[in-house]
Amino acid sequence: AARPLIAPSILAADFARLGEEVQAVANAGADWIHLDVMDGHFVPNISFGPQVVKALRPHTQLPFDVHLMIEPADPYLEAFAKAGADNILIHIEAGPHAHRSLQHIRALGAKPGIVLCPATPPEAISEILDLVDVILVMSVNPGFGGQKFLHSQLPKISRLRDMITQTGRDIRLAVDGGIDATTAPLATKAGADVLIAGSAIYAKPDYKAAIAALRPENTP
Ligand code: DX5
Ligand code: ZN
Repeated sequence: AARPLIAPSILAADFARLGEEVQAVANAGADWIHLDVMDGHFVPNISFGPQVVKALRPHTQLPFDVHLMIEPADPYLEAFAKAGADNILIHIEAGPHAHRSLQHIRALGAKPGIVLCPATPPEAISEILDLVDVILVMSVNPGFGGQKFLHSQLPKISRLRDMITQTGRDIRLAVDGGIDATTAPLATKAGADVLIAGSAIYAKPDYKAAIAALRPENTP
């Protein structure tokens, strides 16, 4: 497999110094910045909204991967696109009209992505593969950083990799939750090409070493 992209999740960063924290991982070799938006309704936690995305935008040129854990998402898609989101990811579980929402994201000029919770089978997105540029497999239940990687999600990653190959389209396959130096190689072996990590990067003193440790050539 090709070198995976590393996307630090700022959920585990120092929220009092978010701008610096984004620049720090950019300087340490990050490929994307992952931004977790939580509404206290779809998930049992509240994080931040489009204002914070907008405020961070001048701090790096790296793509912003905006993970919306909100229900409904539709009323806020335009605000996130305008705030500078490059990828806008919605949950397949967050409403019956993902097809429409993904088209809307594309029309706003962002890259559409779809997210699957641990309980959701890969087939749940089989009819919308032509609309997405990113598929994100949650390897924890969404809402909090620092949870344990669910190994049960590995076959799902492989299945989705096969489904992506079948389309012949260029779709990124991301994994989010409990990614560290031990689980990263399992996820990439299963077919993931984007690794999202919060605590495995931001809870470490040396971001550069922490990011390097997630790349497969540096893991056991
Ligand atoms: C969880 C978020 C994740 C989270 C990952 O709902 O979607 O992006 O920040 O955190 P770690 O890497 O600590 O599991
Ligand atoms: Zn996330």
